[in-house]
Amino acid sequence: MEKKTGHRAQGTGVRKPERSQSEAAAEVVTAPEIRASKGTRRLVMVTAVDEPSARLADLAGVDIVLVGDSLGMAALGRPDTLSVTLDEMIHHTRAAAAGAKRALLVADMPFGSYQASVADAVRSACRLVAEGGARAVKLEGPRCDETAAITAAGIPVMGHLGLTPQAVHRLGGYRVQGRGVEEALRLVEQARALERAGAFLLVLEAIPAPLAAAVTRRVGIPTIGIGAGPACDGQVLVLADLLGLSDAPAPRFVRRYADLGRVVRDAIAAFAGDVRAGRYPAPDETYPSPPGLAAALAKHLGDD
Ligand code: KIV
Repeated sequence: MEKKTGHRAQGTGVRKPERSQSEAAAEVVTAPEIRASKGTRRLVMVTAVDEPSARLADLAGVDIVLVGDSLGMAALGRPDTLSVTLDEMIHHTRAAAAGAKRALLVADMPFGSYQASVADAVRSACRLVAEGGARAVKLEGPRCDETAAITAAGIPVMGHLGLTPQAVHRLGGYRVQGRGVEEALRLVEQARALERAGAFLLVLEAIPAPLAAAVTRRVGIPTIGIGAGPACDGQVLVLADLLGLSDAPAPRFVRRYADLGRVVRDAIAAFAGDVRAGRYPAPDETYPSPPGLAAALAKHLGDD
C-alpha cells in the first residue's frame, strides 16, 4: 500500500525533478496522520538517542522515532529510567531532531517531570518541544488530566500503559501486567479514558496478547505494542536491542536484527591491531610532503 507520508522511490537510477516545498512537507509524518492511520497500515516505531540513530531510522522509513527514557540504559549506562532528567531528555531529543527529518519525533517525559502537577506536565512538555524539537510527547500511566492539558497546549500526547518502567518500584519489578481479569479490564478502561483525554497514540508494554487485542479493538487511536503480541496497530523496539548493541539479557519479545555489538568490537580491535603493528596509517592515508619541506625541516632542526 502506498504510504500517505510519501515514501521515496529508491534505486530507479532516474533523476527525479526537484520537489516543491509543499511536496516535501507532505512527506513529513504528523500526529494527526498517525491517528487517522488506524486500520490502514501497521505502524513502525523505534527509539533513537542521537542524530546518527535518528537519521538511520528515518532513512529506513520508520513512521515514528521515539527518544525514550530507555536512553538511561541504552546510552547513559544507568540501571533504569528513573534517574534520566528533563535536561538530559532535551539534550538527546535535540540531537535526534537533527536526524529525524520525516518521521514523527516523540520525546518521553522523564520521571519527575510530570508527576507532581498538571502545570509541571505542561511546562515539561513545552520544553521538550521548544528546546528539544520534539513534535509530540509520551507519558506513562493513565494520566488523563495531564494528557488533556498538554494536548490543549497544542502538543500531541502518546499514552503508555501496561508495564510502565517509571513505576517499577510500585509494580515490584519489570513484570508482565494485566494478567488478572480485573486488572485487564481496568487497563481497557484506562486506554479508553486516555483516548477521551486526547491521546493520539498508545504504547502497550508487556501485557498478554489477548488483552492488547481487546484494547486495540476498543480504542479509535492506534496502539503500538512492545511485548504485547501481534494484534496491535504497530510495534516498537528499542534500537539498541534491535541492533544487538546491548549486553543485558533481552526480554522474550526482543528480536535481534543485527549483531552490531560484535561488528563494532571487531572493527575497533582491527584498528588497534593495525596501529600496534604499524600498518596504520598507510602512505595513501597520509598527507604527502610539499616539495622541499622534509629537507628544509631536516636542515633547520638538525635531523639526519
Ligand atoms: O523508553 C522507551 O524506550 C520506551 C519504549 C519501550 C516504548 O518507552
